[in-house]
Amino acid sequence: MSQRYSLRCRGCGAAYPADDRHACERCLGPLEVVYELDGRGDALRRTIESGDGSIWRYWPLLPIDEPRDPGQVGWTPLQRADRLGRQLGLRNLFLKNDTVNPSFSFKDRVVAIAAQKALELGYGTIACASTGNLAGAVAAAAARLGLEAVVFVPSTIEPAKLTAPTVYGAKVVEVDGTYDEVNRLCAQVADERHWAFVNFTLRPYYVEGSKTLLFETAEQLEWRLPDAVVIPVASGALFVNTAKAARELVDAELVRPLRARLFGAQPEGCAPVAAAFDHGEDHYVPVRTPRTIAHSLAIGAPADGNAVLALSRDSGGAVVSADDDAIVAAIRTVAEGEGIFVEPAAGVTLACLARLAREGAIEPDDLVVAYLTGNGFKTPEVVPAPEDRRIRIGARLDDFERAFPQALEVA
Ligand SMILES: Cc1ncc(COP(=O)(O)O)c(C=O)c1O
Ligand SMILES: [Zn+2]
Repeated sequence: MSQRYSLRCRGCGAAYPADDRHACERCLGPLEVVYELDGRGDALRRTIESGDGSIWRYWPLLPIDEPRDPGQVGWTPLQRADRLGRQLGLRNLFLKNDTVNPSFSFKDRVVAIAAQKALELGYGTIACASTGNLAGAVAAAAARLGLEAVVFVPSTIEPAKLTAPTVYGAKVVEVDGTYDEVNRLCAQVADERHWAFVNFTLRPYYVEGSKTLLFETAEQLEWRLPDAVVIPVASGALFVNTAKAARELVDAELVRPLRARLFGAQPEGCAPVAAAFDHGEDHYVPVRTPRTIAHSLAIGAPADGNAVLALSRDSGGAVVSADDDAIVAAIRTVAEGEGIFVEPAAGVTLACLARLAREGAIEPDDLVVAYLTGNGFKTPEVVPAPEDRRIRIGARLDDFERAFPQALEVA
């Protein structure tokens, strides 16, 4: 077992070797990975910069011994968004476009780490409870690495998110229930089958993959932390590990210790953490029946919800929500203005960003990064083509001239 990293309890600090335990033996608290760094500052920066154009360039800060995944996960574009920025009154807005990962969401990052770990620990099957994107990412990673995959999803997920994992060759178990019910079922299955549930059995490793979004963002900004990051929240793992990534970047002397304010974004129809933030509570009240078009964020009892509350406050950020109409409007705005087609989870992020800018929580000169974590081609049903953008004609030029007179031409 590697000495380069080990596990530590987030509750009581107990230390463990890096094996497949996922809860503390003393207090049942969640475990996280801690690293012994070989180098810091310039030396580490040079190692990273000479690495692959993928998440594996951050290998010294990832719990993997020898990457074997042939896929290109991560190193996605950080796109400057001046048109959208002008609309929102923000002069330094960047979009982290994670819609272009191998299975079209940021979940490829977390799964790349967990699937690799499953191989290292000798598992033959990887599995997950998913709100949709994770299922696709698990199935795709299993196909790349020669593993079997079994994915559990609520039967209400979007059609494309149901189809994709079957195409990659996974077995898809559609459960009549909410995500939280699927999750409970999987906890029981994990006890009786020798399968690596990526977001359960291997959770301490899995969540480490979410750090790479901020690692890349900081490097793409020439090694600086943004002033504000807007992050979609479902289980809260991406949020909590963005905070961990910021700490690690500072500890490794890769960036100056600027304070990055972390803002969480939830859909109004499933916003337990935003509601608790609003009421000044330390603990959220679970949402029993989520009602939102943002299915990938529909987790009523997020595992890391209370940690998100604490970390958003500590960082000077907040957790807010946006309704379905604002989500759809945001999807259309970023598609038309910046050429990125996102799914509702990222629509939530953008609608919450607009609200934070409007309310002054994010200021005009802040360097702001919004995480766009999922691709809109998986959820086309939420943005049907407007009639006035479609013209059906015969195949002759005069058919076209009649249907599309010069007067209609867009200047
Ligand atoms: C597209 C997308 N964005 C964000 C999230 C939130 O991730 P987390 O569960 O780490 O909060 C998910 C989770 O499924 C997702 O699918
Ligand atoms: Zn403990």
